[in-house]
Amino acid sequence: MRRDHTGLAFLAGLLLLGSAKMAGAHPAHAKPVNYPFVVGFERFHSGMDDEAYLAEGGFILLNELNCVACHAPPAPLADQFPGVVATNLEGVASRLAPLELEIFIRNPRFAKRDTTMPSLFAGPDRDLDEVAALRAWLGTLKKELPAHPVGDIERGRALYHRIGCVACHAPETGYRPPGVPDNAEIEMAGLASVPMNLADLYDLNALTEFLLRPNEHRPSGRMPDFGLSVADASDLAAYLKAGPDLVLPENLTEALSSEAPVVDAALVATGRGLFLTKQCHACHSMPGDDSAALSGPTAKPLAALDPGSTGGCFSERPVGGAVPFYGLDLVQRRALAAALRRLADRGELDPSREIDWRMKQLNCYACHERAGIGGPETSREVYFGFSGDEAVAMGREGHLPPPLDDVGTRLARETLEAILFGGGGPAKSRPHLVVPMPVYRREAGAPFPDLFRAADSSPPP
Ligand code: HEC
Ligand code: HEC
Ligand code: HEC
Ligand code: HEC
Repeated sequence: MRRDHTGLAFLAGLLLLGSAKMAGAHPAHAKPVNYPFVVGFERFHSGMDDEAYLAEGGFILLNELNCVACHAPPAPLADQFPGVVATNLEGVASRLAPLELEIFIRNPRFAKRDTTMPSLFAGPDRDLDEVAALRAWLGTLKKELPAHPVGDIERGRALYHRIGCVACHAPETGYRPPGVPDNAEIEMAGLASVPMNLADLYDLNALTEFLLRPNEHRPSGRMPDFGLSVADASDLAAYLKAGPDLVLPENLTEALSSEAPVVDAALVATGRGLFLTKQCHACHSMPGDDSAALSGPTAKPLAALDPGSTGGCFSERPVGGAVPFYGLDLVQRRALAAALRRLADRGELDPSREIDWRMKQLNCYACHERAGIGGPETSREVYFGFSGDEAVAMGREGHLPPPLDDVGTRLARETLEAILFGGGGPAKSRPHLVVPMPVYRREAGAPFPDLFRAADSSPPP
């Protein structure tokens, strides 16, 4: 098979490009960390020295990094560790340019340093022909999107800092949300923010489309649906893409101008096949084939992994073969090892613990406190918009989402369902709050109503 003749230029350029992206980061983008970012681990478990607490964080990682897709959990724990379904690749070529697709396949950490997608072609034995074939196939996955209006950057900036995005993502340094008194100090956010560097890379129209339908685009349900209007989504997209321009080194610009190689049908077919043999479908559903279930685990079962291992997926360097490279940091490796050591003792979770487990995964704690855990960070409270004098008179309660203590006794099952999964869009029974309760994907949040009912009906022991 003929190798794409720009391959060598790519190789030389990739590292440069990686750093160029960093330098050109959008002001509202969190400073990237150098390991896969998992918010529930970061906020609640990464600073812990206590072995049991660290292990609990390790369990979160086992699920959120989808280790369980390849290393099967013990049968009694299968329900607790369903793993996460990664980005829907349908239409990926309408979002990402050919070069960005190539980078993502070869080493996603160059496109997004703290991504949770491991590199599958970063090892010494990587086969660039395989990368080219995958790119050729993914390059055919275009999707016709409605033409959304081009939004207003300033309106987008104001919205972003008012409707709840900053509960999870980073605020723009130095930005004062409208309505904050002049003498009030804007503190730096202390907790880590969820990265969103891909906003810079996505095509503008496709970014608007993503913001309108995040639950379809990201089946994991980790980024919920705010029920945005087309106008609001366009404004947000315009703002999120308005980072400083990416400046490419001159020699690279030249190499890139010939970036769309002639693609033949055989190459595309090879790429489609590789998607399965390279285990991409351990995490992504097979585009164009709704019926194809995610693949079953193919590597050693979780219980057979050696917690003391420094090889395989624990390796500090890409090892190649079928072993993914996550770029885990030391704390994450320690947490994962602690979890593996405790795997045999892990039993079923009682309803309260299961609620905590799920609220960490879906980051409900970014907006809600429950049982004294979580809730919006104090320095982020200014980014929860509210309106009306009544709200001011109510104090904090008037501008923050409600704590979730006792919701299981306060609210009927159907009410909880409607609040979580929308139907008619985000639930709003507190009109003074500008931040809505976003709509969650049913698969991700399904157990909550029963869990709240069970946990809150039984008095604590
Ligand atoms: C896409 C599939 C895949 C995913 C996802 C995956 N692994 Fe692996 N892992 C492998 C393969 C393949 C090997 C090498 C062959 C084997 O040991 O089965 C391996 C090896 C390992 C090893 C070394 C085996 C040993 O006991 O010495 C450890 C430890 C490990 N993985 C942990 C993890 C952890 C932790 C995660 C999540 C952060 C993870 N793996 C995610 C496929 C995967
Ligand atoms: C509850 C937390 C949460 C809130 C609130 C939230 N997001 Fe996200 N967002 C996420 C997570 C987690 C991801 C990554 C999802 C994944 O990897 O599948 C994400 C991904 C994104 C991405 C994709 C970029 C990338 O690099 O993955 C964009 C753009 C984005 N969010 C914008 C927004 C905007 C605009 C708002 C406000 C309307 C918002 N988010 C509110 C959690 C949140
Ligand atoms: C262990 C799970 C895992 C495996 C295996 C995996 N991916 Fe991913 N992939 C992800 C996750 C998670 C994301 C979202 C990353 C983010 O937003 O930070 C992603 C994102 C992507 C994207 C960007 C899509 C977009 O529109 O934003 C592409 C392209 C992609 N993967 C291709 C592949 C290919 C090709 C393979 C096989 C060679 C593969 N992936 C294997 C987890 C995985
Ligand atoms: C971006 C912030 C945000 C996130 C993230 C969020 N919520 Fe909410 N939630 C709200 C707001 C705001 C309300 C109040 C809506 C209203 O009454 O107008 C609310 C209301 C609720 C209520 C009803 C409470 C009551 O007393 O009326 C429940 C239950 C709830 N959320 C559960 C969850 C769960 C479970 C998650 C995670 C899967 C979650 N929420 C994530 C903002 C959020």
